Amino acid sequence: MSASPDSPPQPRRFMPSGPLTGRIRVPGDKSISHRSLMLGALAVGETRVTGLLEGEDVLATAQAMRQMGATITREDDGTWSIHGVGVGGLLQPSEPIEMGNSGTSTRLLMGLVASHDITATFVGDASLSKRPMGRVIDPLSQIGAEFDASEGGTLPLTLRGISPAVPITYRLPVASAQVKSAVLLAGLNAAGITTVIEPVPTRDHSERMLRGFGADLTVEEKDGEHIITLHGEAELEPQEIDVPGDPSSAAFFAVAALIVPGSDVLIENVGLNPTRAGLFDVLRQMGGDIEEVNPREVGGEPVADLRVRHSQLKGIAVDPAVAPSMIDEFPVLFIAASLAEGTTTTTGLDELRVKESDRLSAMADALTLAGATIEEHEDGLTIHGTGGTPLPGTPKYAAVSTHLDHRIAMSMAVAGLASGDGVLVDDVRPIATSFPNFIALLESLSV
Ligand code: S3P
Repeated sequence: MSASPDSPPQPRRFMPSGPLTGRIRVPGDKSISHRSLMLGALAVGETRVTGLLEGEDVLATAQAMRQMGATITREDDGTWSIHGVGVGGLLQPSEPIEMGNSGTSTRLLMGLVASHDITATFVGDASLSKRPMGRVIDPLSQIGAEFDASEGGTLPLTLRGISPAVPITYRLPVASAQVKSAVLLAGLNAAGITTVIEPVPTRDHSERMLRGFGADLTVEEKDGEHIITLHGEAELEPQEIDVPGDPSSAAFFAVAALIVPGSDVLIENVGLNPTRAGLFDVLRQMGGDIEEVNPREVGGEPVADLRVRHSQLKGIAVDPAVAPSMIDEFPVLFIAASLAEGTTTTTGLDELRVKESDRLSAMADALTLAGATIEEHEDGLTIHGTGGTPLPGTPKYAAVSTHLDHRIAMSMAVAGLASGDGVLVDDVRPIATSFPNFIALLESLSV
């Protein structure tokens, strides 16, 4: 892991930039990459994946699936090959499963292990070891799995799975695609029908991909809620998957182009699944010039190239209903808001407090240090923008704290581009969890 205690933190100052111009391609979608490996490992036969994100979080999932019996290799041209063991065929891992920084790997794999007759111990880094796992322990206990977790329902955690597992009907108490996916993945190896009721829609990659792999899954809409049913003891068929670019990674470049005067950037191959694309709508409401070029479909997902030009943004009240469709993009939205004219308010963001860091407090502290005017509330931030005047930047030796959170590091890097003196980030190692070539791509756009 890049952020292992053995390697020292890597501070870096992100300096003000001239216009960003050119075209870039962001790496594959993280959510789809995790699911490709997991579902490929449960299919019988060979699944082939192109465009897989080769960030640390996804590599942690690959390693975990190998520990449980799948054969996963990367070919020289970057194609990944997965020979699965079949639903019900996961093997007992002989060592603890090292999850690094990855909440998605942990929660989804807990779902898979829960309905197999195996015991697994999950461990993670300091950030992941603080994150709540009770939200998956609750439903997975109902199917019959047993847990021995650290205080407060955190990692390290040992899970004793059960087979046959009891199929359950579960109403999600939090808007979480990870919890939804954990229950559905557990349901794959339960005899009968697993039902998840989702009051607030969240990213639907699991549903799309489970269906793509041949599972019998239906989604019904009733009174604004999603009722998802999955027939267990599924037999998954191997697939050829082309992973679209990650909108959550594209987000950093979209905001960078909007706030750096003179910029005109084309971001190619961006996944625009409606359950993920909320940020681009919000930026357009703020006056951002974001054009979708060549809309098409890749791997069952809507995709387009995004042409983004510098724009004078205006502050808005962000509708809390859009939060699930841009849940990972708030840190970088806060940067855009800091450079907008007027005030931006965000509410309904309690979930941001339990991400890789407490993203409300981490971003309020980081932006304040960089000279922005921020008020932190229980469930959101209020940001008084500069109207386009660069932020002052961080004082000479004072670095913003990223708290092992890749998205805080990348957001503050973007803030540095539109600052007077640059922004010093205390540690850029966490960026490798989701976007290993972020700094190289950023450098390729500045003249
Ligand atoms: C993810 C779901 C989201 C998101 C995370 C990836 C997924 O988490 O923040 O980065 O792939 O299912 P929650 O389900 O906790 O909101």
